[in-house]
Amino acid sequence: MSPHDLPTLRLLHGTSQDVVSIPQLGFGTYKIGPSEAERAVTRALEAGYRHIDTAQMYGNEAGVGRALAASSIPREQLWVTSKLDNPNHAREDALTSWEASMEALGLEVLDLFLVHWPLAHSPGIDLVDTWRTMIEILESGRVRAIGVSNFQAEHLRTIIEATGVSPAVNQIELHPYLTQRPLRERHAELGVITQSWSPLGRGRLLKDPVVASVAAGLGVTPAQVVIRWHLEHGLVVIPKTVDPHRMAVNADVWSFELDAAAMAALDALDRGLRTGSHPDRVQLPHPG
Ligand SMILES: NC(=O)c1ccc[n+]([C@@H]2O[C@H](COP(=O)([O-])OP(=O)(O)OC[C@H]3O[C@@H](n4cnc5c(N)ncnc54)[C@H](OP(=O)(O)O)[C@@H]3O)[C@@H](O)[C@H]2O)c1
Repeated sequence: MSPHDLPTLRLLHGTSQDVVSIPQLGFGTYKIGPSEAERAVTRALEAGYRHIDTAQMYGNEAGVGRALAASSIPREQLWVTSKLDNPNHAREDALTSWEASMEALGLEVLDLFLVHWPLAHSPGIDLVDTWRTMIEILESGRVRAIGVSNFQAEHLRTIIEATGVSPAVNQIELHPYLTQRPLRERHAELGVITQSWSPLGRGRLLKDPVVASVAAGLGVTPAQVVIRWHLEHGLVVIPKTVDPHRMAVNADVWSFELDAAAMAALDALDRGLRTGSHPDRVQLPHPG
């Protein structure tokens, strides 16, 4: 499939002049350091990715920005997501760090900006205040959509009830070992798109015998099977790799499908296994 035909999902935000649709497959950049990011993102663009997922926390926005600047791909064919870092929730910090992200990325307009973690039990953090600042950023016209990450149903309810503005996306840990079914169902009711982080379970799923058996039956790799599982569930999936061969393999998922039996076998792997932090455990340190 050519990059022009990558499937997209329409987001809640946008206008009749600017319909906002996110490419369903993206390239994750967590743990790709500042010096590696330019090369990795350049390789990812060459491999056909048109959606890059970065964050203030990753420290690699400038490297991502250099790769975007050096690419000849028209801006309108690219999708870039970044995320508000945990120490930057206060309005002034959010606005200043947002400007710094735009500068580092070298962008006039960002496609999607997310609140990285809810920090719901952190002193001094008010999720509604943070979300109001995100709405202010959306209203500036320099971001096409805003969303959240690692929010649980209660956090979503709090910000939507207070502001009337739903996040376009909730980016959460999600893979066959952590299928997040109740939260996905809530997102579907709200019109929120679900994005899967650590979609390969940070590589753990690639050794799973059920995944291996589905892959062998189709003549594809375990990573391709897992990525396809996300796509068939209507999720946005952002696998990360620094290996150019793996980048190409992970993006080559359009010539096969998983049948109902394979999907059911993969769904049944759910064991509530988190490879990253639980949203309640990521907190700011208590001042003093
Ligand atoms: N919002 C959040 O809080 C949050 C949290 C975590 C992650 N994320 C986002 O989600 C993205 C993906 O998550 P992730 O990086 O944690 O994990 P992941 O994509 O599930 O897995 C990445 C790991 O799998 C390996 N890998 C990738 N493709 C492979 C293949 N075809 N064969 C064998 N190994 C393969 C990579 O190794 P190599 O690189 O050595 O190939 C790396 O160790 C992140 O990069 C980031 O953009 C967001």
